Amino acid sequence: MEKTINEAEQGTALEMRGKDGNARKLYIESYGCQMNFSDSEIVASILGQEGFNTTSRLEEADLILVNTCSIREKAEQTVRKRLVHFNGLKKSNPGVKVGVLGCMAERLKSQFLEEEKIVDMVVGPDAYKDLPNLVREVDSGQNAVNVILSKEETYADVSPVRLGSNGVTAFVSITRGCDNMCTFCVVPFTRGRERSRDPQSILREVGDLWANGYKEVTLLGQNVDSYLWYGGGLKKDFDKASPMQQATAVNFAGLLEMAATAYPGMRFRFSTSNPQDMTLDVIETMARFDNICNYIHLPVQSGSDRILKAMNRLHTREEYFGLIDNIRRLIPDCGISQDMIAGFPTETEEDHQQTLSLMDYVKYDFGFMFAYSERPGTLAARKMADDVPDAVKKRRLREIIDKQQAHSLERNQAHIGRVEEVLIEGPSRKSDAHWMGRNTQNTVVVFPKENYRVGEFVNVRIEDCTSATLLGTATGYSNMN
Ligand code: SAH
Ligand code: F3S
Repeated sequence: MEKTINEAEQGTALEMRGKDGNARKLYIESYGCQMNFSDSEIVASILGQEGFNTTSRLEEADLILVNTCSIREKAEQTVRKRLVHFNGLKKSNPGVKVGVLGCMAERLKSQFLEEEKIVDMVVGPDAYKDLPNLVREVDSGQNAVNVILSKEETYADVSPVRLGSNGVTAFVSITRGCDNMCTFCVVPFTRGRERSRDPQSILREVGDLWANGYKEVTLLGQNVDSYLWYGGGLKKDFDKASPMQQATAVNFAGLLEMAATAYPGMRFRFSTSNPQDMTLDVIETMARFDNICNYIHLPVQSGSDRILKAMNRLHTREEYFGLIDNIRRLIPDCGISQDMIAGFPTETEEDHQQTLSLMDYVKYDFGFMFAYSERPGTLAARKMADDVPDAVKKRRLREIIDKQQAHSLERNQAHIGRVEEVLIEGPSRKSDAHWMGRNTQNTVVVFPKENYRVGEFVNVRIEDCTSATLLGTATGYSNMN
């Protein structure tokens, strides 16, 4: 199933061609979450100011940057292989420099330089503004490292260079870091404490996208529902803010309302929601605005209360069902997707059955499912043995994926016969005669092109489906146009 592919394990090289043919060439490859892809656009912008143009042709690169992911061991292994390959290119092109960005840079720090000698530069997720200095150090023949995490950095003042863009949909980051400390997760260590970005700078970026013809924005954060702007600084320091700052603070529901009101022609999505932080006012705001999509990515990881507790997910199975019930009550046709982990330490067959029965209750539209991978330094790694045998993890994962596939098919079948609004993103991968777009629930819809164009909102009658895709025929423009 398409949606179960582990995205972290597939790198993508993206480019935006500059005008200057003589500029130095930056090749940047990104792994992992949407935030990394968004960060690469910030990096391209910062280095663009230094005279770098991006290229997707490795052989012409002067600087190779790999924006890395640490979320599972396999993601790190894939990146290491790429780094060894890039280092090998120095034989035929001794001038080329290789830098590692993102979560692996933060996790392994100068270890990269000391042990492996395969990179020239190591730059953590909060240090990208230092890249011009670091590149100069590398140019002068030294290795360069900056892995300092920040209390304030949100890159609010950097206009991202849109890489590999379809010109229709874009990501806008609204928070950085995560304070949740799920016991399996390396992100709080690699991306630091949570901070929110100034809503005015978010609106400015959305405005630039609108002026450039974009039609859909996904607001990004590790935990968007925890967004809180009170003038800058860490989320955990909100208590220390002045009464005035506290009284005028903007939360996530407030931000959504500001964005949806300011740009009524733009469609908004957001990712990721953590169940413990998603409040009723967010769901109510979604219900009030037609231009906020009816779609929530709501990772749960496990259906067992005992495992949820061991994961430090701060909600129970019943509380999660309560949230699902509220979503379905306020937004009956809401698309809901999950992340699941199979084989967390101490998980029993009974716990696994609880996960399967939770899935039966929710019937997610789609999901991202993983076998537990122990990450050094996390609480789970320090306190719990990785004691579920690989074969058991794999079998449980298979059962979770199979169930999801059946639910996805069932969910998609329910769309047949409906007419749904679709934003056209580009040609279908399988057929040049068809467009591909998404409905409000974030499900891919494929239909004959006729005379419609990329970036248009059209109504599509859904006639058929697979577990991953809806198929139909356009009936005309929708009123979002
Ligand atoms: N809040 C984040 C979650 C980041 S990690 C977001 O914005 O998406 C994405 C998913 O990877 C998690 O929801 C979890 O299902 C999975 N994951 C994280 N750490 C993992 C680990 N150690 N082993 C297996 N899967 C993991
Ligand atoms: Fe990771 Fe949990 Fe934050 S999964 S990114 S610590 S919400």
